[in-house]
Amino acid sequence: MTNEIPTLRDPQDRRLPRISPPCGLVIFGITGDLARKKLLPAIYDLANRGLLHPAFSLTGFARRDWSPQDFEEYVRASIEAHTRTGFNEGTWNQLRSGLRFVSGTFDDPEAYRQLADTVAELDSSRGTGGNHAFYLSIPPSYFPVVAKHLSDTGLNKRQGREWRRVIIEKPFGHNLESARELSDVISQIFDEQDVFRIDHYLGKETVQNIMAMRFANAMFEPLWKANYVDSVQITMAEDIGIGTRAGYYDGIGAARDIIQNHLLQLMALTAMEEPVHFTPEEIRAEKEKVLSAVRLPDDLAADTARGQYAGGWQGGDQVRGYLEEDGIPAESTTETFAAIKLFVGTRRWAGVPFYLRAGKRLGKRVTEIAVIFKRSAHVPFGNSDLSESGQNALVIRVQPDEGLTLKLGAKVPGTSMQVRDVTMDFAYGHAFTEDSPEAYERLILDALVGSAPLFPHQREVEASWKILDPILSFWETQGQPEPYAPGTWGPQSAHDMLARDERFWRLP
Ligand code: BG6
Repeated sequence: MTNEIPTLRDPQDRRLPRISPPCGLVIFGITGDLARKKLLPAIYDLANRGLLHPAFSLTGFARRDWSPQDFEEYVRASIEAHTRTGFNEGTWNQLRSGLRFVSGTFDDPEAYRQLADTVAELDSSRGTGGNHAFYLSIPPSYFPVVAKHLSDTGLNKRQGREWRRVIIEKPFGHNLESARELSDVISQIFDEQDVFRIDHYLGKETVQNIMAMRFANAMFEPLWKANYVDSVQITMAEDIGIGTRAGYYDGIGAARDIIQNHLLQLMALTAMEEPVHFTPEEIRAEKEKVLSAVRLPDDLAADTARGQYAGGWQGGDQVRGYLEEDGIPAESTTETFAAIKLFVGTRRWAGVPFYLRAGKRLGKRVTEIAVIFKRSAHVPFGNSDLSESGQNALVIRVQPDEGLTLKLGAKVPGTSMQVRDVTMDFAYGHAFTEDSPEAYERLILDALVGSAPLFPHQREVEASWKILDPILSFWETQGQPEPYAPGTWGPQSAHDMLARDERFWRLP
């Protein structure tokens, strides 16, 4: 008997790289920071990895009065400055041949007519096949006007097996009510299945690894419940200030910018039940169940904290306080640090606090999820032998040093039975040779392929606002956030919040 070696691979083989179908992507807000630093380089890196169909075309839509050459130069400069995979003339020439630029304001009907002509021209000259995605990398206040014109020019309409999709960036509203209004605007012209809401944290490898770790291994799941877990801490810390983003950030703050989307999604992935099938519908449904089971603590004054960074020294640099940043009103009450305690009202998590914190100008840039286990019910050693050991913890290091850490007690070498904390580490960089793709590479490709598991559903967005709205309303009555010194771990009230529970924040 001979062993048959298959020469053709099964088209259903998940290991095959997924390649975009022939299609076009139109970016509104192409001159913005996000497009320049993240979207354009991600598109190029996808092309460089051979993951975009040769027909792929990219159209920029912006107010500037640019010639096609100006646009090409802009795109090239952004790619050269930020590509992850290195600049390659061949890839660039291929991408360049599909670049188009439409100049106009968001309310100019003539510009949309030109856009419609451009899309039709791409279909006939490059074979984009009537498949087009519209990426709204613009403030949500412009969504209604863009949506109206897309609809007036019929750009949202498809024929036969063609597709038309919309990709939107957060903030998905300012609260529950505005999130619903925004969704109404979009859902009038696109079906929910054609709406891709970007939460770029879900595109990070380590975030997807939460599901791999939980559901592909036998050893964690039995412990993943209130019987064994003491508490969960989810931290997203940045050492930078708001930089040039005053216009976006002021009035938004840390809770809306980070907790409403990134941290509640991390929490949902950590706490959710195993989906029966690994389909977008089931993954989203399990996350939604967690979000709708969230309970707030009774005393929001004690169990939430908010702060605003003051001026001072960070590392070797003297930095300005939030209120001194360019474009920030001197009396702004926007928080640059937020911490909240939540419960998930399910049997699995009954009584386990989830502590979430996010902030700018903190000690260092780090995002992690720490699942902290209860102490052993009994140990046969004396208390002094355990004086240097704490609780077991499993830390999912989302960034920058991607991996997992297991913290456990081990015997100190010597004649006594001293136990001390040690760590076991898995580091992506050591275990795998390939670099992780940027989150936007994964998400843009998924949107072009039409794969939705990594995009939150509108129901998740609304469930997240339902959690946050009462906290935000409470904070509105509380005046100025507590100042904290740059380079620290936030205001004293955040430390007090955990101390009252006889716990402390991990020092990442
Ligand atoms: C964005 C926030 O969603 O995430 C920014 O709007 C923040 O304020 C950024 O700086 C951080 O992203 P990352 O991937 O660097 O952790």
